[in-house]
Amino acid sequence: MSAETTSEAAPAKINLALHITGQRADGYHLLDSIVAFASHGDLLTFSPADRDGFGLAGRFGASLSAEAGGKDDNLVLKARDLLRAALAADGHVMEPVAIELEKNLPVASGIGGGSADAAATLRGLLRFWRASLPPETLSAIALKLGADVPMCLESRPLRARAIGERIDMLGSIPRFALVLANPLKSVSTPDIFRRLAKRDNPPIGTLPTSCDIAAWIAFLSGLRNDLEAPARAIVPEIASVSTALREAGSQLVRMSGSGATCFGIFSDREQAEKAALELESRHPDWYVQATETENGSAG
Ligand code: C5P
Repeated sequence: MSAETTSEAAPAKINLALHITGQRADGYHLLDSIVAFASHGDLLTFSPADRDGFGLAGRFGASLSAEAGGKDDNLVLKARDLLRAALAADGHVMEPVAIELEKNLPVASGIGGGSADAAATLRGLLRFWRASLPPETLSAIALKLGADVPMCLESRPLRARAIGERIDMLGSIPRFALVLANPLKSVSTPDIFRRLAKRDNPPIGTLPTSCDIAAWIAFLSGLRNDLEAPARAIVPEIASVSTALREAGSQLVRMSGSGATCFGIFSDREQAEKAALELESRHPDWYVQATETENGSAG
């Protein structure tokens, strides 16, 4: 049977909290993070073709081709090649594939971007090629692509530890209405980690056991993103983005990942949409997006 065109969503990754708890001998940082995934993100499409191809579309497609610095840095193509090698070693025969990446998320912005695209490439190509791999093989490929790729492979609420690859799924977590905002200043993750003043912060404590939204907001309010201070030192505009989200009525404002995207939690989707419109009109040069997190349960 020949392959059929298939699409795979690459949802934005939101670090609701991110504590840096230590550092490995190789320089990678140990973390403890509560991660949720948004209904908004990039979209990958895989189509049959005579030979392999790759195309970019979407608001941030052009910035990716400029920043990726050539094919070697493109995580989608790296994911395709690593997966193909693993499947070939397993005896699979794979047809050529044309991949299109609709880049709706700003590049180098702390909400997954490249990691989510790499993970969606792995999921989408397994479907396209009608193939499967043992979960531990797939996780190992994901980790080779980046510390955040294993969590993006799950794309459901989770707690990530170690350097990001030790993952526990979260059963009881509310769906949060969010506004994402970014001053469109890209951030280099290694630069932010290098500027960290303190690397042995306490881990996240015991999580709420219910889905109660007020309990979760109170719990999250006591947590942090330890990368926010070094990111603010490099991108001072993060302070204006946080203030604008707070003034627009957010119940909680925080930066995601290594920044510069910040999120605000709102009481419901309607309030989030209203706040996003207001922020967009005041700051037409920012990336502003209303969305909500998926809670991972069916339906
Ligand atoms: O794994 P990834 O390529 O996404 O990481 C990019 C850089 O971010 C690493 O080279 C490292 O400098 C830093 N990093 C880290 N600790 C992590 C994840 C990333 O120090 N847990």
